[in-house]
Amino acid sequence: KNIAIAMGGYSTEFDISIKSGETVYKNIDTNQFVPYQIHITKENWWLVDDNNNKHLIDKSNFTAKVDGQLIQFDAVFNTIHGTPGEDGLLQAYLNVMEIPQTACNFYEAALTFNKRDCISVLQAYGIKTAKNYFVNQGDEIKPEEIVQKLGLPCFVKANRAGSSFGISKVKKTEDLEEAINHSFKEDDQVIIESFLDGREVSVGVINYNGETTALPVTEIISENEFFDYDAKYLGKSKEITPAQLTEQQTNEVQQEAIKVFNVLNLKGFTRAEFIFHDNQPHFLEVNTCPGLTEASLLPQQAEAAGIQLQDLFTEAINACFK
Ligand code: DAL
Ligand code: MG
Repeated sequence: KNIAIAMGGYSTEFDISIKSGETVYKNIDTNQFVPYQIHITKENWWLVDDNNNKHLIDKSNFTAKVDGQLIQFDAVFNTIHGTPGEDGLLQAYLNVMEIPQTACNFYEAALTFNKRDCISVLQAYGIKTAKNYFVNQGDEIKPEEIVQKLGLPCFVKANRAGSSFGISKVKKTEDLEEAINHSFKEDDQVIIESFLDGREVSVGVINYNGETTALPVTEIISENEFFDYDAKYLGKSKEITPAQLTEQQTNEVQQEAIKVFNVLNLKGFTRAEFIFHDNQPHFLEVNTCPGLTEASLLPQQAEAAGIQLQDLFTEAINACFK
């Protein structure tokens, strides 16, 4: 089967996504699958990139001519973080074209990529979260009101973005407006959340051997103020897998992550972040196309569970044909 590994995208997470895609390309089982690296560029060109040449994909039928031969792609391995692979746009196109892909479907992707909407649904199912305040671009910014509702410090985030782009931790009321404007560079919606004091953990949940399975938990200890871009990708954090939690805490957070997966009807690979606040896991967010770079957490968790990346990827591809 011809597998299009889709990577890149139009967001600031482009470079991370290319690295994730390359990990899949390197680890895919070539006895079973013929992988193609598909770059979706910031200009929305869709290219088959075979390192020497680039071949344009015909979006009207999702095929490409590679070295004179017409290639029909049987499935997409989606490693795009952010738009259009993690927010549902690519999924919607592929659904219409009847091409299977490895991540969750378009509605679930769009819902989970919108931090505010995702949190509101989960709260209705008893999942604990931080308090939040929402601002659309053009709304009057009311720092006092925000601080009254959330207290300080608080986190200002782009509502629809990843890899911590557009996030700041704010300690003083007078710094809020600048932080909000910084987030508006990433998205025209901003969510501000109350600070949850506690240990931060991350849990991968995957479909494996036909079951929804939580991977070993990772604790994140950032050298920076929070788990920002440098902490994530430039080594400025300690990531401990499996996390040094009690068995009860581990079970609790894994169950909570599975609950998130089920309530939101997710599929493929996902990774959810929580803070143990007042000794209870509070949900921060879920990533439906989590990073698969060498520095990313999900591959570390799979390794700790004794799952080879090749097996993980084979399972994901096979599952999308079912
Ligand atoms: N958004 C990044 C890639 C992650 O969640 O791993
Ligand atoms: Mg994220």
